[in-house]
Amino acid sequence: MEYGYFDDENREYVITNPKTPYPWINYLGNEDFFSLTSNTGGGYTFYKDAKFRRLTRYRYNNIPADNGGKYFYIKDGDTIWSPGWKPVKTELDHYECRHGMSYTKFKGSKNGIEAEVLQFIPLGFWGEIQKVSLKNSSSDKKKIKLFSFIEWCLWNAEDDMTNFQRNFSTGEVEVKDSVIYHKTEFKERRNHYAFYSVNSPITGYDTDRETFVGLYNGLDAPDAVFEGQSRNSIAHGWSPIASHYLEIELKPGEDKEFIFMLGYVEVEKDKKWESKSIINKQPAHDMISSYDTADKVNRAFEDLRAYWDNLLGKISIESADPRLDRMVNIWNQYQCMVTFNMSRSASFFESGIGRGMGFRDSNQDLIGFVHQIPERARERIYDIASTQFEDGSCYHQYQPLTKKGNAAVGGNFNDDPLWLILSTTAYIKETGDFSLLDEMVPFDNDSSRAKSHFEHLKASFYHVVHNLGPHKLPLIGRADWNDCLNLNCFSEDPNESFQTTENQKGGTAESLMIAGLFVVYGKEYVKLCIRIGKEDEAKEAQVHVDAMIEAVKQHGWDGDWYLRAYDYFGNKVGSSENEEGKIFIESQGWCTMAEIGKEEGMVEKSLNAVKKYLDCDYGIVLNYPAFTKYYIEYGEISTYPAGYKENGGIFCHNNPWIMIGETMLGRGDQAYDYYTKIAPSFLEELSELHKVEPYVYCQMIAGKEAHRPGEAKNSWLSGTASWNFYAITQYILGIRAEYDGLAINPCIPASWDGFKMKRVFRDVTYNINVKNPEHISKGIKQILVNGQPVNSNIVPILEKGKEHSVEVLMG
Ligand code: GLC
Ligand code: GLC
Repeated sequence: MEYGYFDDENREYVITNPKTPYPWINYLGNEDFFSLTSNTGGGYTFYKDAKFRRLTRYRYNNIPADNGGKYFYIKDGDTIWSPGWKPVKTELDHYECRHGMSYTKFKGSKNGIEAEVLQFIPLGFWGEIQKVSLKNSSSDKKKIKLFSFIEWCLWNAEDDMTNFQRNFSTGEVEVKDSVIYHKTEFKERRNHYAFYSVNSPITGYDTDRETFVGLYNGLDAPDAVFEGQSRNSIAHGWSPIASHYLEIELKPGEDKEFIFMLGYVEVEKDKKWESKSIINKQPAHDMISSYDTADKVNRAFEDLRAYWDNLLGKISIESADPRLDRMVNIWNQYQCMVTFNMSRSASFFESGIGRGMGFRDSNQDLIGFVHQIPERARERIYDIASTQFEDGSCYHQYQPLTKKGNAAVGGNFNDDPLWLILSTTAYIKETGDFSLLDEMVPFDNDSSRAKSHFEHLKASFYHVVHNLGPHKLPLIGRADWNDCLNLNCFSEDPNESFQTTENQKGGTAESLMIAGLFVVYGKEYVKLCIRIGKEDEAKEAQVHVDAMIEAVKQHGWDGDWYLRAYDYFGNKVGSSENEEGKIFIESQGWCTMAEIGKEEGMVEKSLNAVKKYLDCDYGIVLNYPAFTKYYIEYGEISTYPAGYKENGGIFCHNNPWIMIGETMLGRGDQAYDYYTKIAPSFLEELSELHKVEPYVYCQMIAGKEAHRPGEAKNSWLSGTASWNFYAITQYILGIRAEYDGLAINPCIPASWDGFKMKRVFRDVTYNINVKNPEHISKGIKQILVNGQPVNSNIVPILEKGKEHSVEVLMG
């Protein structure tokens, strides 16, 4: 069953039934100021950091789901309704929610009133605009009442939902004209406040939640709205809100527009007050006046559209399947931007208070984003590398507001450092900007301990070399990419976290996944060293890479697939000898991408085993058979019920590793088959089972051993977006940025006649036309650039600012 449809022309997903199987959300904002908006108006807003600077309140795990957001109520006679259906849930004559590129548009109509609410955050602006358009399409004159509603969060989202003994006494607001100001804690250490305005006189307002809603009502039935009258309440403590009340007359056919703005202001310390206890409102007035007419708002909306035209214009394809085109051209790239911005912090599965930016997460996010805004990618790489230590290890996470390593989450995840080589080389290949390597980057955010970025890469590489175990394979530390494979943890206490509990001493558990990762990015490191003239370093590094390849062949091969690990006691993990968890996806992915033992047939055997044991209707599961009891020596992985999460779930993040592995063997049909199993646009018809948004990837789909295989969770924020984009564009479609040009090496389904890609690379536009008359999967007979043959599959960097044709003949 479907709950909407793709409108590719407008780059929107249009939800036509508000009762989606789970709230289907969108993100507004592109740099500092963000909102999450569900298809019924639920969600919240924050500045930079969803934990420390949250503007509006949201209750996770609420009943009913997704209750709380930015709402409008329309009272038309005795009928009360909301344009986004919630919170009132009056059945609408028409409902539509259009999630687009950084905006959401609701259209609701009832009894001859058509309401449209457009929400977006103008570029570079610290405020959300809600443009409300109301039209009377009936033949009678209408007198309606409009109420807005938001609920303020007392800034620190964690404190806000725990520390009630204090919070119920701190809330403070001001109301002046049509603007409601939230100034809790402004008089002490905060130099910021928020406001909610409308560009029209109001008849009334409320700022005290209890007065507006009533202590025992839900948001579906606030007293003030049902009585049709605001109470002009001023909050003193308890829960401050902001609600405007407008009386609106509409003649038949008439329409009116109102601009609401939810803004955030920072004021210099000595300019905080206008007079005693009265805040300085000038900065808010300036913001309000920049978008106080529909014209100004429309222009900002056009700018936003142009911004996305430009971003999405850098890679676009034409294939025979619109589902593929809309993933590559629109939604996958869009999600890459969102994950770049959010890392794993705020979604409808991430509460915004648990996690900041992940070291490994954000590095991986970059590979799907770097072509969009390379300057921001560069800055991000710098921020990430600054949380590293001299020995190459790093904090597992850092807070976006402070950019400092988060000590509470700790470190010692031994895969972490290597991802820095991935992001850095991806950035340089995209931009040709080698100067990043010379940039002085602090260790542990201490600028007195800065060294060149290249030294950070070197430290990353040698962190593995310096942490090898008894089989000369990498020590795993707390865990590798799989956070839940905690081989040194031995936790017996349900109150401790697997991620931060002190590891048992003397651990020699080793990871085959890190081994493969090391070979892939070790080779990259060597290549980079050669490219920048560090021949000696390249030679030395190559020795370590070769040694790792040998170690994997000797100690990491189980006969038909690569082992996953050696545990604390030196026992095999992911071996046919194990009773459960005989085979794991991660080491198959990384060791096949690294092509370890390819000549000996290991790559092929490994991928055949993946197909045989891990593949299922909904994707490739993480391990098989799933664990059915708790193994103290394996940790969190065996805590999950079979088929879910890291225990036999389909982790969409690691499926592309196998797709890429398949392309190493030239098996384009298999690679693409895996791609279509998890690509959301291909799952639209399954929405009822799948539950989450059909326009973005989720982290996990329940695996074949789960109670409900195919049911997905944790949409939006995971490394899935970037890895799938990377796999489809660079390995399946096979167009890849290299230091000296654009490499072309598709590996596609044999049935395809070809495809086209427009790629803007280093300010050069390449119109690539791949033809596949012989219906093969891989192999190139000829490449013509502007009609001239080139004798390598790397198309050089051509004249900037111009369009060039690249004709590729497979064969
Ligand atoms: C989550 C984490 C990521 C981890 C993965 C597998 O997505 O954000 O860091 O690699 O789970 O455990
Ligand atoms: C990863 C896993 C998740 C786990 C978390 C922290 O994100 O996906 O299952 O709970 O790490 O332990």
